Amino acid sequence: MKWWTDARFGMFIHWGIYAEAARGEWVKTTEEMSEEKYRKYFDIFNPDLYDPAEWAKAAKEAGMKYVIITSKHHDGFCLWDSEYTDYKVTNTPYGRDLLKSFVEAFRNEGIRVGFYYSGPDWHHPKYPVNHGSLIHPLRNREDVAVLNKERDLGQYMEYMQNQIKELLTGFGRIDLFWSDYGSDVTAGGNEDDLVKLIRGLRPGVIMNDRLFNPDLLSGWGWRWDYRSPEQTIPGQWIEMEGQRVPWEVCHTLNGSWGYRRNVGVTDRYGWKSSEQLITLLIEIVSKGGNLLLNVGPTARGKFDKNTMERLEAIGEWMEYHSRSIYGCTAAPEEFKAPENCLLTYNPELNRIYIHILKWPTRRFHLDKYFIGRVKHARFLHDASEIQFLDGQGHWDWVWTGDVENRSERTGIMNTLTMQLEIEKPDVEIPVIELFLE
Ligand code: GLC
Repeated sequence: MKWWTDARFGMFIHWGIYAEAARGEWVKTTEEMSEEKYRKYFDIFNPDLYDPAEWAKAAKEAGMKYVIITSKHHDGFCLWDSEYTDYKVTNTPYGRDLLKSFVEAFRNEGIRVGFYYSGPDWHHPKYPVNHGSLIHPLRNREDVAVLNKERDLGQYMEYMQNQIKELLTGFGRIDLFWSDYGSDVTAGGNEDDLVKLIRGLRPGVIMNDRLFNPDLLSGWGWRWDYRSPEQTIPGQWIEMEGQRVPWEVCHTLNGSWGYRRNVGVTDRYGWKSSEQLITLLIEIVSKGGNLLLNVGPTARGKFDKNTMERLEAIGEWMEYHSRSIYGCTAAPEEFKAPENCLLTYNPELNRIYIHILKWPTRRFHLDKYFIGRVKHARFLHDASEIQFLDGQGHWDWVWTGDVENRSERTGIMNTLTMQLEIEKPDVEIPVIELFLE
C-alpha cells in the first residue's frame, strides 16, 4: 500500500458509448432504454480524436500518480477486445482495442494503471433484471419474470470471472482493481472465490471495498485494501472498529461521471472551480485519504475545455506544492490548524504544511502546541523564510518598533506568531512549510 498512500492523487476515467448521448453514464437506465434503442450508440461509436498519450500527459501534468478507467461500466460495453462478448469496442466503427493503447500511454508517463469493473451488467443476457441494488433499464417491463427465466447469475458470474482474468493477464502489470457494485453480484457469498482469483493472478494488486458485502466489511487488510466512498468529504479519517483505515474518495468535476454536455447548475451538477478542487485534494490528504478525480471524455475522445482548464490549474499549483501532498497525511493530533487553514504532515521529513485558504491580515498565530517545536518556517512555493516569534516577547513592540505603543496589556504571547505580508503570494493556495524539531 505504500506507493498508493504516498501517491494521494489519481485520475478516474468514465468512458464508453454513453458519451455519445452526453447525458451521463446512467442514461440507459434513467431513460429506461431498450436494448435496441441503446444499440444506436454502439453502432456509431468512433472516437476519432482519441489519443491516450494526450490524456496521460494531462494526468501527469496535473500531478496524478495513478489512473482507473472503466473497462466495463453498468451498460456492459467493453473497452477491450474481450473473447467472451461481442459487445466490445472492436465491433464498433472504431474497431480497435482502447485499453491496450491506454495502458501503454499511461505507463509511459510513469502512471500506475487500474481497471474499474462493474458487477451489474445491463446488457448481458444472463444478468437478472432487477437483481441487487442497482436499478435496471428494464425494471418496469411487465414481463420481467419471463425475461428472468432465461437469466442466471451463476452463468453471469462465470462471464465476470473470465473477463477479470483477461483484464488482469492481458495488459501487463495492473496495480489496482476497482470494483463497483460488485457486492450486487457476490451477495450470494462467493466473494472469496473472486478475491482469490484476483489476488492469485496479481498478488500486488490493490482492491477497493465495493466487491464486498457492506454488512461484512470488517477484517480489512486481508480482503479489501481501502474504503471507497464517492462525492463526499468524510468528517475525519475513516475508521472501522476504532481503527483508522486507508481510504480514497472519488469526485466528479461537474456532478457527472460520464460526459454530459449540459451540466447546468443544480444541487447535484455544476462545475467545481479549480480552487475548490485544490482545496478538496488538500482536505482529503489532511484527513489521511486519497483523491480519485474523475474526467468524462467526449465521444470523440477528448477531455473538454472545462476539464483541461481545471487539470491545468491543479497542475500549476502542484508544480510548487506537491511536497505537501505526496507522502503526506493527517498532522499529529496535538497540532491544531489555525483558522481557515488545513494541515498536512510528512512523517518522513517531519514537516507540517499549513495551507492557508483565506489570506490573513499580517498577523498569523499558531496554537501554543507549536511553541518550541519549529526550527524553520518558509513558503513552499519559493522556499523564502518566514520569521516568527515563538511564545516570547511583546509583539506590538517587536514588530511596529513603536515603543509608545508597547503595552504590558499584550503580555507574553502564548502562541507562535508570524507576520505575513499584506498581499497574498501569487499562488492559488499558499502553503507554509514548518520544519519541526
Ligand atoms: C456509482 C455509479 C457509477 C459511478 C461510480 C463511481 O456507483 O453507479 O456510475 O461509476 O459510482 O464511484
